[in-house]
Amino acid sequence: MTTSPTPPGGTWALGDTAVTRFGYGAMQLAGPGVMGPPADHDGALAVLRAAIEAGITHVDTSDAYGPGVTNDLIREALHPYGPDLLVATKVGAHRDAAGGWPTARRPEDLRRQVEANLERLGVDALGLVNLRMGDAAGPRDETLAEPFEALVGLQREGLVRHLGVSNVTSAQVDEARRIAPIVCVQNLYNLAHRHDDALVDALARDGIAYVPFFPLGGFSPLQSATLTRVAARLGRTPMAVALAWLLQRSPNVLLIPGTSSVAHLQENLAGASVPLAPADLAELDGIGAAATPPAPSA
Ligand SMILES: NC(=O)c1ccc[n+]([C@@H]2O[C@H](COP(=O)([O-])OP(=O)(O)OC[C@H]3O[C@@H](n4cnc5c(N)ncnc54)[C@H](OP(=O)(O)O)[C@@H]3O)[C@@H](O)[C@H]2O)c1
Repeated sequence: MTTSPTPPGGTWALGDTAVTRFGYGAMQLAGPGVMGPPADHDGALAVLRAAIEAGITHVDTSDAYGPGVTNDLIREALHPYGPDLLVATKVGAHRDAAGGWPTARRPEDLRRQVEANLERLGVDALGLVNLRMGDAAGPRDETLAEPFEALVGLQREGLVRHLGVSNVTSAQVDEARRIAPIVCVQNLYNLAHRHDDALVDALARDGIAYVPFFPLGGFSPLQSATLTRVAARLGRTPMAVALAWLLQRSPNVLLIPGTSSVAHLQENLAGASVPLAPADLAELDGIGAAATPPAPSA
């Protein structure tokens, strides 16, 4: 019997479920604009299987990706799921024919989305569901009480094990926590987007995970002369160093980098273990200081 390798960063407990801090985000496996099937179906399955073979136990998805495409791929590649795998999904939007992401957060919308995830993933209960708020422009100053209470109801029915929130302000995190426990917050954050620095630290103090989406910059991967220089000095790729920085940012940071390439997945896994010295960290921190515009006013 072979034992799984441990990806860099070790593990973190999402509620009662230990996951590897280095996870995988499946969104990039759908077609262009996160619509339709991938150009390389077998290649997409190979990426998912390579992630599991590398020891990753946290895969992030949504039924809105494709729609239905990444969930179908996850089921085809990985079902029946190993006992250690946590597939995290999110609800709060659906897709229109033009590829838009209209919000869908009425209780009946959320039930439909949870049921669609259950069916496509082929499970009786979802390990983790994030309520996605706001829109593509970011979080909005709005209450999440009604949709979050609806999800808590689905959790009480046994359809969902753990809850999280996504694309939210600190005030919305507090509002959700007054309603029910959450195990994570999934927000936009990376070397160049550091609006959530204080939130990362506050959640760490309370044992709640912070899961950055777009950890590599998303649809416009990070480009920075400083990052390239530090990576060259360390003999790693810029993307791997961006992930190493996140792993070293705080122990509650969990990675869900996306890739449609087995080679990039392996390169990221291999490189993200690089230790960053104080001088490296100081240089890399300068990227955020230079790039992060003032937070939008509510
Ligand atoms: N909650 C939310 O609202 C929300 C929003 C967006 C995303 N998400 C989640 O966050 C996850 C991560 O976001 P993301 O995938 O959009 O962005 P990302 O992880 O920041 O970046 C992915 C991009 O980086 C490229 N890349 C990865 N490794 C690379 C390497 N070694 N060298 C060069 N390029 C590399 C990928 O291209 P290749 O395919 O060529 O490797 C892809 O274009 C998603 O999968 C999704 O699960 C959540």
